[in-house]
Amino acid sequence: MKVRDWERRLYVTAHPFAYPLLCAAARRGPVVRVPGVGVVVNDASLARGILMDGETFRKDGPGSPGELWTPVLGPSVLLNMEGEAHRVLRRRLADLFVPSYTEALCARVLDEPLARLTGRLRDGATVDLVDAARVLAGAVIGEVIGLETRTESAYRDLFEQGERIVSMVSLRTRRLSPSQVRRARAVLDPLGDIAAKAYAAGDESTVMGRMRTLGLSEDEARGAAGAFFLTGTETVATLLPRLIALLADHGQLARVAAGGAAMLDRAVDEAMRVTTPTPVMLRSVHRAVAVGGVAVRPGDRILIATHNCCRALGPFDLDRPHPPELRRLWFGAGPHFCLGYPLATAQIRLVARTLLAAGPLTVTRRAAARGVLIPTYRHLAVRAGRGTG
Ligand code: HEM
Repeated sequence: MKVRDWERRLYVTAHPFAYPLLCAAARRGPVVRVPGVGVVVNDASLARGILMDGETFRKDGPGSPGELWTPVLGPSVLLNMEGEAHRVLRRRLADLFVPSYTEALCARVLDEPLARLTGRLRDGATVDLVDAARVLAGAVIGEVIGLETRTESAYRDLFEQGERIVSMVSLRTRRLSPSQVRRARAVLDPLGDIAAKAYAAGDESTVMGRMRTLGLSEDEARGAAGAFFLTGTETVATLLPRLIALLADHGQLARVAAGGAAMLDRAVDEAMRVTTPTPVMLRSVHRAVAVGGVAVRPGDRILIATHNCCRALGPFDLDRPHPPELRRLWFGAGPHFCLGYPLATAQIRLVARTLLAAGPLTVTRRAAARGVLIPTYRHLAVRAGRGTG
């Protein structure tokens, strides 16, 4: 049976012009220069080599992604830093999201909303997994920042605020306009105040309190809270419905539900590979070198097309092993490897496990989202019980 490629449709709907260009770039070879975009890298081994070399390929300085985010997040938020300063801050944050802590945090925050979700599915209700995942991701990031209002509408609102900032960025954006910076700051400054309050309280069971214990200044903790909010909400929230849809479309829901922890991890990894919630990574070149035979110069912009690198292996297939060069490339590699990886993993595992246990799930209705940076569903309705959907 031919499976309809919903993932492709999500990408085309989110990026009707850029996605076909990105696919065309992949067909032209492992490294191609695209006017107006930069040097596009489509090969996982070359991408990994670039990510590991933080001296030549940087996230700070002119033309780098740092330039995009520094005006809204401040100068020292990891994702716009390099070299010794970056190493020092990463070292201090190394223990912030250890798995034992992130698993306990997700269990604490998500137990109640997940019990409600399971209850609704058991009662035969149709549930929109897009909205559910937004609320759950909002709950987790709210806890990370120190949000005191713990209601579904507060979580939904938090999610939407982040979405408003992220949707200002397209695959071509190099800088935010002054009015975009103002709008982003109008969202982030009050969140920074919430984070600063939690930092000042210093409770070591909270993420902000832990940052204080780890020796971060209040400004650094504020900046980190903003960075976590921007990088760690939509990525997780969009992955969850896409994971369930992929398993449903490939007839793998029951197999993964029955398969235990290792099987679930394999399913999550394979869904990450196919969806790549962060479809591209940017660097600016600081030293003349050759990348896969293409000469690059200082000031060149490198666009690692993570999505192309990962999709080169083929369509979704739980039985195909990942070669070493692909290993978690969707979370980056090297010095900037995703700091929130343990938090994202804990959350995705817990939510996916709960949804699968409430199944068998049937997808009854769905549509792709327009005008978003991270491709996703506008809605994905599921209900428990076998059906024709
Ligand atoms: C499915 C979920 C997620 C995906 C796919 C993802 C992906 C990534 C990728 C690809 C990078 C590296 C970017 C680069 O090198 O240019 C990154 C960095 C980062 N991520 Fe995540 N991420 C996710 C969730 C999270 C969460 C939940 C948090 C925190 C709450 C988070 C915080 C960060 C931070 C702070 C960085 C910057 C690290 C640095 O520059 O040193 N991410 N993420």
